[in-house]
Amino acid sequence: MPEIIFLPFEKTVRTDGSKTILQLAQDARIPLQSTCGGKKKCGKCCVIIQETHGPLSPPSEREKEILGGKVERGYRLACEIRLRHAATVLIPEESRINDLVILTRHTKHTVAYRIRPHIKQLFLEVPPPVLDPVIADRERLILVLEKRYGIRRSVMDPFVLRKLPQALRSSENEVAVILRGKNEIIDLCPGRGGGLFGVAFDVGTTTVVCFLMDLVSGEMRSVKASMNPQVAFGDDVIIRISFCHENPNGLEKLRSSIVLCLNELVASAAAEAQIDRDRIVEAVMVGNTAMHHLLVGLDPHYLSMAPYAPVLQEGQDYKARELGLGIGASAYAHLLPLKAGFVGSDTIACILATGLHRSRIPTLLIDLGTNGEIVFGIKNKMLCCSTAAGPAFEGGHIRYGMRASPGAIERLKIDSRTYDVTLKTIQNEKPMGLCGSGIISAAAEMIRAGIVLQKGDFDEEVKTHRLREGEDGLEFVLVWASESGIDQDIVMTRKDVAELQMAKSAIHAGSTLLMEEFEGEAVKRILLAGAGGNFIDPKDACTIDLFPGCLTAKVLGVGNAAGHGACLALVDQTRRKEAGRITAKLEYRELAATSRFQELFVSGMFFSSARDFEDEF
Ligand code: FES
Repeated sequence: MPEIIFLPFEKTVRTDGSKTILQLAQDARIPLQSTCGGKKKCGKCCVIIQETHGPLSPPSEREKEILGGKVERGYRLACEIRLRHAATVLIPEESRINDLVILTRHTKHTVAYRIRPHIKQLFLEVPPPVLDPVIADRERLILVLEKRYGIRRSVMDPFVLRKLPQALRSSENEVAVILRGKNEIIDLCPGRGGGLFGVAFDVGTTTVVCFLMDLVSGEMRSVKASMNPQVAFGDDVIIRISFCHENPNGLEKLRSSIVLCLNELVASAAAEAQIDRDRIVEAVMVGNTAMHHLLVGLDPHYLSMAPYAPVLQEGQDYKARELGLGIGASAYAHLLPLKAGFVGSDTIACILATGLHRSRIPTLLIDLGTNGEIVFGIKNKMLCCSTAAGPAFEGGHIRYGMRASPGAIERLKIDSRTYDVTLKTIQNEKPMGLCGSGIISAAAEMIRAGIVLQKGDFDEEVKTHRLREGEDGLEFVLVWASESGIDQDIVMTRKDVAELQMAKSAIHAGSTLLMEEFEGEAVKRILLAGAGGNFIDPKDACTIDLFPGCLTAKVLGVGNAAGHGACLALVDQTRRKEAGRITAKLEYRELAATSRFQELFVSGMFFSSARDFEDEF
């Protein structure tokens, strides 16, 4: 079979010609972007065929349409072409999935840990067996457990039984028993045992974070994060759900890719903390509903169809080994409860972490992403919804949009007299594009400089060579090619602003709709959770009217609140029940079912603080 070499990774794969370049890259875990999941819509999967040992089909009409002038420079769509001969394929910088800046910290605005784990370690001295009467190892241990600690009817995981004979005999009858809940023995080791550890995972659509914690002291021992490898199959959950539906083994492919990622994170966290992975005896996982279903192997198909019903809502315990997690052989993984098809356990964990359900302060909690999850409420009443904000906050559908990786513009300033631009990029690398906070910052500055008007149009009267006619109408040059890291001008187009208007309007309208049910109760606190919210300058967010309440509320970043909520539930078993109560109390509003949302969405498209063109006449 012909060999395909992927550069710059120097990875070689074989092909029988039946798979697209994108599918070959996915199988080989080569970090090639595919925002639309191979549907020939996004243009993010472009590659350059540097060499081929046979004829190559000419660019299709679709490729010409999507790639435009890039076709002449040899760019092709990886999801369009199949190679039947040996070839060398270059994945250019802009098509690679680069490492992201991942939010792992939480802030002082979140709830403190209380240590009450589901797991405890007990020390026993089990007498050796005698000839008469013969009492088996397990029964002798259970007898001692009952006599010494009053634990009745204890049960033992079969994997623990395998260790039992050696454990009892290798340390002068002393054994440390690890008990979960009231009476399940999930591990034991000879002598005085060792530390007890747990892991909490925040499984996001784009990133995954693993927190390794000491279950005795509550100390955070290590935090590791990575991209969610499912990104190679499509950027958003809808594309991944359809991937599962349209491809035989699609669900298993996505499931095994995330499990592999979790195991790599655990291994690296354990190595950093210098602990044995077998000592990790509990895991807690949170994520949106689609991530939850994909992780457990539940069919996510009906999440994408009204009424978007999940397979289950309650929090669940699984044996970690059933999920393929490489931690203690008899350890459990607990998944916090879900609320709805698009309000997952990450939202429940955010509420838990911020204490919104106990607060008397009217609070708006927003987790910004392709789907914006919004909660508004106070102690006795909480409402939630999910809005399809689209990918703009993650750089999708924006001409020079990119994820938050090195070289992404995260903040900028425009001089309102000269229109000169000063900017800050992630890791101070040469600018490559705009990440979510950069897009919001650019729009806010263009509003302040009078370039963008209330309806989002660009003011043609602005006198600067940076404002020019481009492929998609008027565009403003933020970075000249000579200063950029991609040898092209980086621009913000009118079309980009329109994408942002739709995204911000969805968040604004969803928030307003929830707040309207509180009959004039003014929001006093706006909490921004997740990477999307925490890197945004609150002033920029208010300038583009991202959410209502800027005049009355304090805007605070709460870091990775979902991850913090998962950690709380890991070290304190009572938090799991609390998560169940939050889910029961939280009322879900389906926005698609209301015409009011449409009205608010249309009115939320404006930039209220921008100049109004008509004012000038
Ligand atoms: S155009 Fe190929 S993955 Fe989107």
